[in-house]
Amino acid sequence: MPIDVERSGHVATITLNRPDVLNAFNTEHLSALHSAIDQLSADREIRAVILTGAGERAFAAGADIAEMRTKSPSEALEFSLMGHGVCKAIEAAPQPYIAAVNGYALGGGCEIALACDIRLASENAALGQPEVTLGISPGWGGTQRLTRLVGPGIARELIYTGRRVKAEEAARLGMVNAVYPLAELMSKAMEMAESIAANAPIAVSRSKDAISRALDVELDTGLEFEARIFALCFDTTDQKEGMSAFLERRKATFTGR
Ligand code: COA
Repeated sequence: MPIDVERSGHVATITLNRPDVLNAFNTEHLSALHSAIDQLSADREIRAVILTGAGERAFAAGADIAEMRTKSPSEALEFSLMGHGVCKAIEAAPQPYIAAVNGYALGGGCEIALACDIRLASENAALGQPEVTLGISPGWGGTQRLTRLVGPGIARELIYTGRRVKAEEAARLGMVNAVYPLAELMSKAMEMAESIAANAPIAVSRSKDAISRALDVELDTGLEFEARIFALCFDTTDQKEGMSAFLERRKATFTGR
């Protein structure tokens, strides 16, 4: 299977599994990833998702160059829109996605990591948008999401040069939140996923939605949206449970209702 999905309690882990080509995405792989995301989005038991790559060398080394080489412009457009679809499915998912970047995250691999809510990297990770070295421009959101994440100055440099950024520099630039030894990466990602999953799922999910809007709308519109979703949280059982548990000095048990 090009994509593996494992569940552990309220956390799911998606593993990109084409290690022979450093988990590069062909159409089948990309489509399987989209289906896995859609299935998890419909699964109310899952409250956080970790996305990682099989093996110890790569998260994903990008779109499959062997498959892409002979594409016509119209096929390339379709492939770009397919990649956009996967990235938007991650962003629209009710659960936060943590990319556990365990090696190369290049081109489409970097773009899919950029669509995740949080990126954690191993010390051997390297991120980048090398498309211009292949005669193409980024096609799965790199020009937009990298720019939003690190600002236009750094995004322009990285995209125009195609330079790979090692984990420590990626952390300094804000491309990844933290860097761990490779052997610890998955346990750190799981620890973070479980701490998210212990919180009220509707509140987390609505927070994700509001944060996603922050960069797309002007401040007043964003604040109005925030006030509405804040108010809607007061219509949940979990709000009553969370506040009662605090006042009764016990741990809250959230049910997602
Ligand atoms: N598409 C298709 N195959 C890829 C690939 C990609 N994006 N990235 C790596 N592979 C394949 C290689 O062709 C090689 O296959 P082979 O063993 O059958 O020859 C295998 O994965 C291992 O890669 P290799 O290049 O031998 O490893 P390396 O350690 O020398 O270099 C990278 C690793 C990631 C630096 C290098 O593979 C690379 O630059 N890949 C392309 C990255 C890229 O440009 N991505 C953007 C695409 S839009």
